[in-house]
Amino acid sequence: MPDPGKFIGLWQNRFANYIASQQRNIESNQRLIASPSTYPPLRERLKKVTRARADNLRTILELMAPQQDLGPGTPPEDHADALGSFMLMVYLLRDWGWETGEVDILCDQVREILPDDLALESLLVLGAGACRDAYNLHNHYNCPLTVSVDIAPLMLLGASRIVSGGELNLYQIQPNNVRNAQDNVTLWKLRAPRKPDNDFLFMLADATSLPFAEHAFHAILTPFLIDAVGEDLRDFAPRLQRILQPGGYWVNYGAMSFRPGINYTAEEVLAIVNASGFRVIEHGFSTKPHLAPRESCQRTVYDCLYFTAVKE
Ligand SMILES: C[S@@+](CC[C@H](N)C(=O)[O-])C[C@H]1O[C@@H](n2cnc3c(N)ncnc32)[C@H](O)[C@@H]1O
Repeated sequence: MPDPGKFIGLWQNRFANYIASQQRNIESNQRLIASPSTYPPLRERLKKVTRARADNLRTILELMAPQQDLGPGTPPEDHADALGSFMLMVYLLRDWGWETGEVDILCDQVREILPDDLALESLLVLGAGACRDAYNLHNHYNCPLTVSVDIAPLMLLGASRIVSGGELNLYQIQPNNVRNAQDNVTLWKLRAPRKPDNDFLFMLADATSLPFAEHAFHAILTPFLIDAVGEDLRDFAPRLQRILQPGGYWVNYGAMSFRPGINYTAEEVLAIVNASGFRVIEHGFSTKPHLAPRESCQRTVYDCLYFTAVKE
């Protein structure tokens, strides 16, 4: 991290905001449960939701113990009420719980656009989230070393527990399940199918400030990251170029919902990649459901750009 004190302060603040938001939610549900005007079947559902939320909060507090031990850091001056990636708990559910096939879409596409006979020596996954893509590709290629980088502590702590053979019990709370009200709360026992072979490492780091030597990796995957990373692609792409081996692969898959001012079309993204010391050898578009549980009445689908680029 360029400024560890600031980073710690930011995430301690987000963590405190998350705890407060869950407590507020629990209290407001308790008021509804106690109110005589609440529709009785809804009251029963609210009781389940409230118990699940309280249980999740206990689990998250226990999982986040390493962060709690870090001290206060430097408190943020702006956006002090932000939650950051705490809402992304759903990524843990999707990656290690739901059996909707969503996690396979990205990995299948990545395997298709890398050479068939690739003997992958090392893989860096940036913005790895709950790390299922990294885990699947590491296993598929029997990769000697995979490093999963993310800036959100919760997902890495969750993934590292699961991947190392542990279990994480989290409730999915789905108030808008119109078909089966009984399924508005589902307990997922998140587990990895098996422990990975070789070195499978987690790194809490900012992808715009990576501590790696030049030519450190054989391949880099950016799954739904280049538009989320917050840095102009014209600055971010050369960073990846520097740490890739000559002839190494940059594989991207994701939506293109960039921030205003640094928003690019697919054609512009490919041009920037080609101008940053890479040669794009394959690209295309893929439609992917995004964080779409079976139980929800709403589903988001993203139109995604994928490409493979070789370092020149
Ligand atoms: C849209 S999510 C995608 C997560 C996962 N790769 C997937 O495909 O489901 C973007 C991820 O990038 C991470 N991220 C955003 N900015 C980052 C940065 N500067 N450095 C490292 N990770 C970052 C977020 O914490 C989040 O996990």
